[in-house]
Amino acid sequence: MGGRDLSRINIGLMGLGVVGSGVARILTEKADWYATQVGRPLVLRRALVRDLNKPRQVELPRELLTTDPREILDDDEVHLVIEVMGGEHPAYEYVREALLRGKYVVTANKEVMAKHGPELLDAAREAHVDVLYEASVGGGIPLIAPLKRDLLANAMTSVRAIINGTTNYILTQMSREGWDFDRALQQAQALGYAEPDPTNDVEGLDAAYKIALLASLAFHTHVHPDDVYHEGITRLAARDFRYARELGYAIKLLAMAERSNHGVQVRVHPALIPEDQPLAKVEGVYNAVELTGDLLDRVLFQGPGAGSLPTTSAVVADVIDVALSIIRGVSDRLTWRGDLMLPVRPIADLTTRYYLRLVVPDRAGVLAQIAGCFGRNEISIASVIQKETHEEDQTAELVIMTHRSLEANMQRALRQLAELPVVREVGTFLRVEG
Ligand code: NAP
Ligand code: HSE
Repeated sequence: MGGRDLSRINIGLMGLGVVGSGVARILTEKADWYATQVGRPLVLRRALVRDLNKPRQVELPRELLTTDPREILDDDEVHLVIEVMGGEHPAYEYVREALLRGKYVVTANKEVMAKHGPELLDAAREAHVDVLYEASVGGGIPLIAPLKRDLLANAMTSVRAIINGTTNYILTQMSREGWDFDRALQQAQALGYAEPDPTNDVEGLDAAYKIALLASLAFHTHVHPDDVYHEGITRLAARDFRYARELGYAIKLLAMAERSNHGVQVRVHPALIPEDQPLAKVEGVYNAVELTGDLLDRVLFQGPGAGSLPTTSAVVADVIDVALSIIRGVSDRLTWRGDLMLPVRPIADLTTRYYLRLVVPDRAGVLAQIAGCFGRNEISIASVIQKETHEEDQTAELVIMTHRSLEANMQRALRQLAELPVVREVGTFLRVEG
């Protein structure tokens, strides 16, 4: 690799935003402590940004900043690249080139690792370097390293997670305050939790990248994010939270991966979860990940899933790990190998319970028609509650809970219910977990 002088470990930092400025600040403030841990200094040699004149959360000598990626990629003295720019392009191209040129890489980029992880890990292996990505899932919560090392003795069977802080904050506010989605989103944006364009978070894409990474590691296979079924939280109404609570449930955006003899099923969607389960109690921007393995049974990791310093904690841990590998001249010690090539099963194969809210005319014979539709699709109803009646238009709201049924049957029933003249509106449809 470039830079044979290993008396110091030279770092090229790509990105100096929320995470990058935290990393730059902590590498500076704790320089002596990290030098003691590693045995030599970690030196920030260049920081790549788009705009040299932007105000920063960290003060760095002006000559360290550059807008030219070549000043990092072509510099043979840079041993290690930290990529915290975000987005797929050009981050993917920069990470790939850094690896091919023999530089170790630490990244927080879930999108790049979920889409291109296998290729980048192969590139790293061939170049005898590493790419570490602890911060890409769950911010500061240790997840990637435990799956790569501490849980290796287990056959993992499931991952259930709340891994998007923005949506968990929005859902918490909808539940606590009785707000609708738009109001909770505005509050999340005002507090800086949600981005001006919140699509990736609220449509479940961010969580899909993260569960693809966790499922790949847990099950030794490769789950591409395109194979992850995902639904967002935008259709939820404030009253769904009220009805769920009356039934003993919380509503959470869950990211789940399950392994069976037939392959893996990986999905992200809002779901009802019993209020006494640990995941139901995870509030605000916090994340939590529940892993189940054959030896360990169940373990729960919980903590701050985003934010400058929590994410910096994960990035710098990877940096220290990589620095030690550079000094020892080792690579590929504990890395993911997705050899199993397990098939990813479609959502239609899922069997679970369902919650459905319908608006119907409040008159005789309506319930019988709805029950008939469920019956024809082999779905057994567990309970029906008439929640609200509206005198003026003579309608009522029904909340139906089913027994465990096949998703394909449930989807067919939903299409047929929408066609029934007695159904005014098919409202929220949610899966029930646990
Ligand atoms: P951010 O605040 O938007 O910062 C991105 C930085 O990258 C900015 O400094 C920007 O430069 C620079 N940049 C972006 N595109 C560039 C380009 N083409 N050329 C040069 N510089 C470029 O993002 P962030 O929140 O720190 O997130 C960074 C990464 O960490 C993402 O992959 C994200 O998913 C991941 N992550 C973030 C968090 C979190 O809490 N924020 C948590 C876990 C993981 P300018 O400043 O000049 O615009
Ligand atoms: N947007 C993410 C979240 C943080 O809300 O959890 C970065 O992974």
